[in-house]
Amino acid sequence: MKAAVVRAHGGPEALTFDAHFPDPTPGEGDVIVAVKAASLNYHDVFTRRGMPGIKVPMPAIMGLDVAGEIAEVGPGVTGWKKGDRVLVDPINRVEGGLMGETVHGGLAELCRARAHQLVKIPEGVSFADAAALPVAYGTALRMMVTNGHVAKGEKVLILGASGGVGVCCLQLAKLAGAEVVACAGTDAKAKRLMELGADKTINYIEKDFVKEVYAMHGKPTRRGAGTDLGIDVVVNYTGGDTWVKSLRVLKVGGRLLTCGATAGFDPKEDIRFIWTFELKVLGSNGWMRSDIEKLLELVQSGKLKVLVDKTFRLEEAREALRVIEDREVFGKIVVTP
Ligand SMILES: NC(=O)c1ccc[n+]([C@@H]2O[C@H](COP(=O)([O-])OP(=O)(O)OC[C@H]3O[C@@H](n4cnc5c(N)ncnc54)[C@H](OP(=O)(O)O)[C@@H]3O)[C@@H](O)[C@H]2O)c1
Repeated sequence: MKAAVVRAHGGPEALTFDAHFPDPTPGEGDVIVAVKAASLNYHDVFTRRGMPGIKVPMPAIMGLDVAGEIAEVGPGVTGWKKGDRVLVDPINRVEGGLMGETVHGGLAELCRARAHQLVKIPEGVSFADAAALPVAYGTALRMMVTNGHVAKGEKVLILGASGGVGVCCLQLAKLAGAEVVACAGTDAKAKRLMELGADKTINYIEKDFVKEVYAMHGKPTRRGAGTDLGIDVVVNYTGGDTWVKSLRVLKVGGRLLTCGATAGFDPKEDIRFIWTFELKVLGSNGWMRSDIEKLLELVQSGKLKVLVDKTFRLEEAREALRVIEDREVFGKIVVTP
């Protein structure tokens, strides 16, 4: 089969196209999925580079989010048949493991998955939209709804709002009735965020977002408890030098939601803001199966529009990942083998 393969960790050149990678065969409880769409995430950049403490078996086929049609059903599998349209839950919740990291993922024509990881794609939901959901939209749902409880009327600041997780955080915050300030690295992305529903935007490469937020919503003070100065919720999966700045804009009792650290996981800390303003730092990791099912329903009903920015062929997988790594992405990048 054709596949995009990583044989050793490294830079962009470590992702190579292979026209003759061995086809997978199904074992007990497996299905083979003919991949119709796989979405890329920043996680794939980390996987290609190599992450401290995470062992990736080589050669690796990345791509955590896989949607397609069942091409073959392995022994012992019931309830699924050839031709069924399926989305694979990237997390193996029974034996452990993650698609595109510990086992081969979706950057290939065929992909082996455990039958218990399959989710039916409802009528009317495209393969590309389904593939865009689990990692980015699933984690955003967990962060904004399940753990973050973002509510009507709250002021929400989203850093990196143009990325896969970010656009969904914006969409979910607006669905909840919150007022959103979205941060992006270019004016062009900021414009698109306004079109997507942001109430205000900040180009945080050109301007200090702390000063901008103070100008928009006031500088939080301890006396500000019960008043409207500052921000209720900051969404920060960027880390690095944005971390302490995020603490500075939160009002008394504010929440900082995080699920990652694109720009660095061991930032400078200033815990004075956490105690003085009684802040809550809430982590989210991944999604539950029910989150994926809920998202598929939201998409099918038209309440949530999946933002697929660009679609690439398998042969273009390196370029597809470059768009993410070089911060050119707006929403999701999908590869269609
Ligand atoms: N724990 C979990 O389960 C989980 C699940 C999904 C994602 N994550 C994490 O969440 C983060 C976002 O993931 P994603 O797939 O949405 O990424 P993405 O699509 O690449 O979006 C990330 C956004 O962050 C901004 N950014 C700020 N500093 C950056 C930097 N130094 N390098 C690259 N981008 C930077 C970029 O927007 P601007 O250029 O406009 O600033 C970019 O659009 C990643 O760290 C990822 O590992 C964690």
